[in-house]
Amino acid sequence: MAELAGAAAPFIDFRDVWLAYNDELLAQRQFAVEAIDLQVAQGEFIAIVGPSGCGKSTFMKLATGLKRPSRGSIVIDGREVDGPLKISGMAFQAPSLLPWRTTLDNVLLPLEIVEPYRSQFRSKRAEYAERARALLRQVGLGGYESKYPGSCRAACSSAPASAAR
Ligand SMILES: Nc1ncnc2c1ncn2[C@@H]1O[C@H](COP(=O)(O)OP(=O)(O)O)[C@@H](O)[C@H]1O
Ligand SMILES: [Mg+2]
Repeated sequence: MAELAGAAAPFIDFRDVWLAYNDELLAQRQFAVEAIDLQVAQGEFIAIVGPSGCGKSTFMKLATGLKRPSRGSIVIDGREVDGPLKISGMAFQAPSLLPWRTTLDNVLLPLEIVEPYRSQFRSKRAEYAERARALLRQVGLGGYESKYPGSCRAACSSAPASAAR
């Protein structure tokens, strides 16, 4: 349907989005999510609620570019999503910390793995670590940079809660 004249384009634009998790499921027409049509304006706050297995996490994987749709189109900020988005963040419901790395090294892990940070990681480690320390302070984890995940439960449970997805 044509956009209303003068209306701003949506920031998030899902058009008839379907996802089957693999080729076998696709062949069986077993879709994790079906026919999602959703438009979200810039600055708009939305929450998606529903029972376990209804597709909330799948929606987030699609919206952040971690999964590509089997059908349909996803446009974010005017661009078709064709891979993981740098502008998005996701707080996973289950902890995904590596127990053998300190708090600081857990925060730095994505920068060690993902380009364009990976190739500069050695030369920019001090700069990245400073930014990571600032972020940890922001969420109430200042002072826990050198602790391991198993030893900072008390701090984590009193830190501000972030939305679980
Ligand atoms: N990796 C996967 N492979 C196959 N099916 C999956 C996978 N992850 C989720 N699903 C299926 O996709 C559907 C939606 O799951 P999910 O998005 O995790 O739901 P929610 O987050 O709302 O609990 C469910 O039927 C689930 O079994
Ligand atoms: Mg989920």
